[in-house]
Order: sequence, then C-alpha cells, then structure tokens
Amino acid sequence: MKILKTTKELIDYRKSLTCSIGFIPTMGALHQGHISLIRKSIEENDSSIVSIFVNPTQFLVKEDFSKYPNRYEADLRICKLIGIDALFIPNIDEIYFANEPNIVAPMRQSYMLEGYQRPKHFDGVLRVILKLLNLTKPTKSYFGKKDAQQLFLIQNMVKTLFLETAIVPCEIIRDENGLALSSRNIYLNEKEKIKALNLSKSLKVASREIMSGELHVEKIKKRMREVLKNLDVEYVEIIDRKFCKIEKIDLKNSIILVAVKIGKIRLIDNMWI
Ligand code: PAJ
Repeated sequence: MKILKTTKELIDYRKSLTCSIGFIPTMGALHQGHISLIRKSIEENDSSIVSIFVNPTQFLVKEDFSKYPNRYEADLRICKLIGIDALFIPNIDEIYFANEPNIVAPMRQSYMLEGYQRPKHFDGVLRVILKLLNLTKPTKSYFGKKDAQQLFLIQNMVKTLFLETAIVPCEIIRDENGLALSSRNIYLNEKEKIKALNLSKSLKVASREIMSGELHVEKIKKRMREVLKNLDVEYVEIIDRKFCKIEKIDLKNSIILVAVKIGKIRLIDNMWI
C-alpha cells in the first residue's frame, strides 16, 4: 500500500494508473461503516484509494475540530489489511490556500436539517470533495447513505459541475443493537449508548406505521417523537429524495431523518423508504 502525503505524490500516482479507480474519502477513525465502502470499492475497481483528512472547513467555529478522534496507527493497519492500493493523508496546507474561490452549496438543501444547526458545514464538505475528486479523478466514488444530505449535495455537485465520477451510495452499517456506526460513538458511555438506540427504534416504529398503511408524514413524525421523548431532539423529518418537504410518503422516493444530541454528542440516523 502506497502512503501519499502530498498532492504531488497523489497526482503522480494517479498519472501512473490506467485502470478503474475507486475512491473513498474519509476523516479517519475508521469503523465498519467506512470498511463497507472500502470493500465495495475493492470489489468494483482495479485500484482503490482512501483519503483520511479531517477537513477544517466543514467544522463550525464552536465545534472543536482538533478534538475529532485521531486513530492514525489503527487506520493504517485497517487500510493495509483490507488491501487498498493507496492512502492519501495530507496536511491542511497541502489542501487549502490563502486565496481560493468560494464554493457555496445550494442554499435551500444545505441550510435545512444538518445545515440548520451547522450553517456553512456543507460549503466545507463540497469544497474538500471537489478538491479530492479533482486530485484522484476516480471512476467511482463511495459515500454512505448515513450522511444522506451530504450524499445528496455531492451527487448534485457532481452532476451540475460535470465532474466525471460515478457516485456510489452505500448502505448504513449498524452495530448488533441497531445503532448506526459513527466515529463519534466512541464518546458515548454505556448509559448514553442505550439512549442512542432510540434513534433506530424511532425509525423502526416509522417503518411499522408505513407498513400498516400510514403515509401521512405528520402522523408518522408524531409517533417517532413519542419514542424520542426523553432525548434532546434536533429534528425528525420526512422528505423526498430531492430533499423537498412532503405531506404524504411516496414509497421508494422518501427518506426519514432524525438527529438528536446526547450529552455533547450529535447523532444522526435515517431510513430510505
Ligand atoms: P466520515 O464521517 O469519515 O465518513 C466517510 C464516509 O463514510 C461518508 O461517506 C459516510 O457517509 C460514510 N459512513 C460513515 N458512517 C457510516 C455507516 N455507519 N454506514 C455507512 N457509511 C458510513 O463524511 C465524512 O467523513 C466527511 O464529511 C467527508 C465526506 C470525508 C468530507 O470531509
């Protein structure tokens, strides 16, 4: 496995490849969620490149990006074991410059839900992904459905800026109790982990309601809020897959999303229906 620390090393490596390339951008602290994306890329491409870069521009000033978990040694071992071809792990000054054009995510879909509590977060995500895609020029790029809004905005950027990569949405990976895996879960104590199970439980309740014929968004959201009543809920929302509000669920074209805060940790989960 090649370890590439500079953009020049990555560009030179990329030039040496003529095969199909899968790209998996991450912020490290790799878990089974990331691993599932990497495995899919290895299955579907001749060569797979993972990036680990804790992107400062997607953190708000009040969010301490220096506290984002750093598991470099473990991540390195995981990448070697799975058998990726190259790991890109740059410093901030390899990626960002003093003067650069601004990338601004579409207003409506980036200031709702995740963006409501985290304004400009998605500007930072798109900014770094655009740079990483330009550097790696992958045939396919892998993103988790866990971050549904991020996935939607990246798909939109790739389409509208005519980028030449196919975005591959990947299923949400959960632990044995149903908790969606996240690098932030390591900050939860045992009691908080139990509380956190209410996220997936609320989605299951919604799914049961829908299976029994209930399609009214407000009624389903009310049932979900009952499950989440002891939590600090940031949002419970049901939208279509273009991130537009709906009153009635359109099956195979809707997403149910939930975000809560447990202590200082924000957790999100969703279900595509
Ligand atoms: P990070 O949180 O490290 O996630 C990297 C990728 O793994 C994202 O596409 C995310 O959706 C996916 N992922 C995380 N948890 C998952 C789970 N439980 N199941 C399936 N996929 C999961 O998302 C980011 O980093 C950053 O915003 C990034 C896109 C790298 C830009 O900086």
